[in-house]
Amino acid sequence: MKLGVVGKGGAGKTTVAALLAEAYVAEGRRVVAIDTDSNPNLGISMGLSLEETEAVPVLPRSMLVGVQGDVTADELIGEYGTDTPVGATLLSAIKVTEAGAGCTCGGHATVRSLLSDALADRADVTLIDMEAGLEHLSRSGGTLAHADVLLVVMEPSRKGVLTAARTLPLAEELGIPFTVGLGNKAKRPDDRRFFEDLCAEHGVPLAGVVPHDDDVVAAGRTGRCLTASSAPAVRAEIDAVIAHLDALTG
Ligand SMILES: Nc1ncnc2c1ncn2[C@@H]1O[C@H](COP(=O)(O)OP(=O)(O)OP(=O)(O)O)[C@@H](O)[C@H]1O
Ligand SMILES: [Mg+2]
Repeated sequence: MKLGVVGKGGAGKTTVAALLAEAYVAEGRRVVAIDTDSNPNLGISMGLSLEETEAVPVLPRSMLVGVQGDVTADELIGEYGTDTPVGATLLSAIKVTEAGAGCTCGGHATVRSLLSDALADRADVTLIDMEAGLEHLSRSGGTLAHADVLLVVMEPSRKGVLTAARTLPLAEELGIPFTVGLGNKAKRPDDRRFFEDLCAEHGVPLAGVVPHDDDVVAAGRTGRCLTASSAPAVRAEIDAVIAHLDALTG
């Protein structure tokens, strides 16, 4: 399963990707999580310290992975993979460290090659934490063209759901089999209903609604990793999302 986590800025993509990684590992699945944000924070959400996150090696741009590529998946994981406290392997694909150094298209090409089954023997689940916006769908070839599922994380706002509605036709055009929305930060009593109604109006299949949780806020402030015992309501919804995606993809 290759799952791209996308959506509007600040909606909770990185948080959801880390929670999914931990939950998949708890089910005994081997998870490789790829941070494609040019401002990479997934390591922190997966329990690494700031120093450890900064030390995660960045994949060379435009590297082709696979038997006929520049490196095999084993070499790639051996050289660039970082074990994280949640039990998943982290790869960092794109990081901007120099001003004016040019676009990050080469990094996106690397991710695209990684998703074309290069990691099939190394991962049961490949999770991709994307940068905000829709550019990953418009880049040459589409960074996520080989993903099985796009999970669009949405805040309880019209713009959040509209991002999912705009993602659907682009993903379909790229040939991505499934795109679903995931409500996040639901706080008001009517937030679930809001997601259900607006998603129905815009034809966005809804995979679940994750509640707003003060433990998630606290973890975001301290850099603490969220575990199964913290934020149990959030984890319960994440487990339900995994069951939903399993049913969807067979
Ligand atoms: N369910 C939740 N409850 C409370 N706070 C949340 C929840 N999900 C995410 N947050 C908070 O929202 C903020 C943004 O989350 P996160 O960094 O995961 O979003 P993002 O979509 O990855 O952002 P970006 O577009 O910058 O990559 C963080 O402070 C995070 O702690
Ligand atoms: Mg993020």
